[in-house]
Amino acid sequence: MKYFIVTYGCQMNVHESEKIASILENKGYVLAEKREEADIIVFNTCAIREGAEDRVFGNVGNLKKLKKKNKNLIIVLCGCMTQKEATAQKMLRTFPFVDVVIGTFNLPKLGDYIDAVKKGRQLEIWQEGDIDETLSYKRTSGDNAWVNIMQGCNNFCTYCIVPYVRGREKSRKEENILNEIKEIIAQKKYKKITLLGQNVNSYGKDLTVPCSFAKLLKDICALEGDFKLSFMTSHPKDLTDEVIDVIASEDKIEKYIHLPAQSGNNRILQKMNRNYTREKYLTIIEKIRNKIPSCRITSDFIVGFPGETEQEFEDTYSLVKQVQFDSIFAFMYSPREGTVASKMENQISDEIKHERVNKLLNLEKEIQKETGKR
Ligand code: SAH
Ligand code: SF4
Ligand code: F3S
Repeated sequence: MKYFIVTYGCQMNVHESEKIASILENKGYVLAEKREEADIIVFNTCAIREGAEDRVFGNVGNLKKLKKKNKNLIIVLCGCMTQKEATAQKMLRTFPFVDVVIGTFNLPKLGDYIDAVKKGRQLEIWQEGDIDETLSYKRTSGDNAWVNIMQGCNNFCTYCIVPYVRGREKSRKEENILNEIKEIIAQKKYKKITLLGQNVNSYGKDLTVPCSFAKLLKDICALEGDFKLSFMTSHPKDLTDEVIDVIASEDKIEKYIHLPAQSGNNRILQKMNRNYTREKYLTIIEKIRNKIPSCRITSDFIVGFPGETEQEFEDTYSLVKQVQFDSIFAFMYSPREGTVASKMENQISDEIKHERVNKLLNLEKEIQKETGKR
């Protein structure tokens, strides 16, 4: 029996697919080279932008042919998109050949849903769940080992679906993280360890024995072994001086920070509920560059947020120009149902969004040419 996993979205999902692979291998499945050979296909989905969801819809539709050829093929949909009840229902209706549809919190029980397919189609979406410490991972990212340090997000940026599909912030106990990393080091297969969380700088705030992200970094670096440590993603509002100092002083930490700014305009930043200003963001960049001159800095931007004027977009443009990021991701704002921004007035046309995203990406190219940065 063979399995095939299709993963959409962020590193968090990539890492969760490693968990799915482990669950399936424990049930006796082996990896198929292509989906045509599989007895079970799992789509681990993403809901961050409409484009991501459209891709999933199209690709699930294409599975119909495979199911026709192999009546026993099991098709599973999981991840952020199916955590939304309405979307999950719609997928069940649209794709009668899909067998299991579950939400993000149900993943640890994937094996049970697969067993239950004999009795009929499975749909279950839990609204919350604790981090499962009993599961293992089939690591698939070469010499990099992902380590999840927390789940969920409390920030509710007004454009973002993540808090709705991943729940509130929950940190793993430091001891559990350190034990997992010790095991990774002992295997001697991994040169890189990357810590994952939607907002790693607020790690530990919810623990009964509080632990800061800076302390976690220090304690990981104190472990014996030869490895490079990195992490994502940092939120500017919570990036402390202490974290910058630890990055500067620890040789094991990669000199790299991904620090999404989203916009360079204070009115838009406020409407996004980002809780920092352009000036505060620039101060953080200055601190990083003072203390860690060699640090690579990258960022994410959203263009065409509701009500964004040409002048407000120019502020984003000028921020990118001023900071000279090593690279940026620029996204066209995509309204997500249920979020605050999706109900705001003055939604921007696709044409203007395209124009603005192209301007930013051209600027990025110019900067990279000038500075030789990559
Ligand atoms: N937790 C991370 C980012 C998660 S999503 C953080 O806060 O930085 C990754 C990126 O997708 C975000 O940084 C943002 O730029 C983009 N994004 C999120 N929601 C979006 C939306 N509705 N439309 C367009 N881009 C979006
Ligand atoms: Fe979304 Fe904001 Fe949370 Fe990032 S910090 S996941 S952008 S709500
Ligand atoms: Fe990641 Fe997409 Fe979910 S970006 S957290 S897989 S909505």
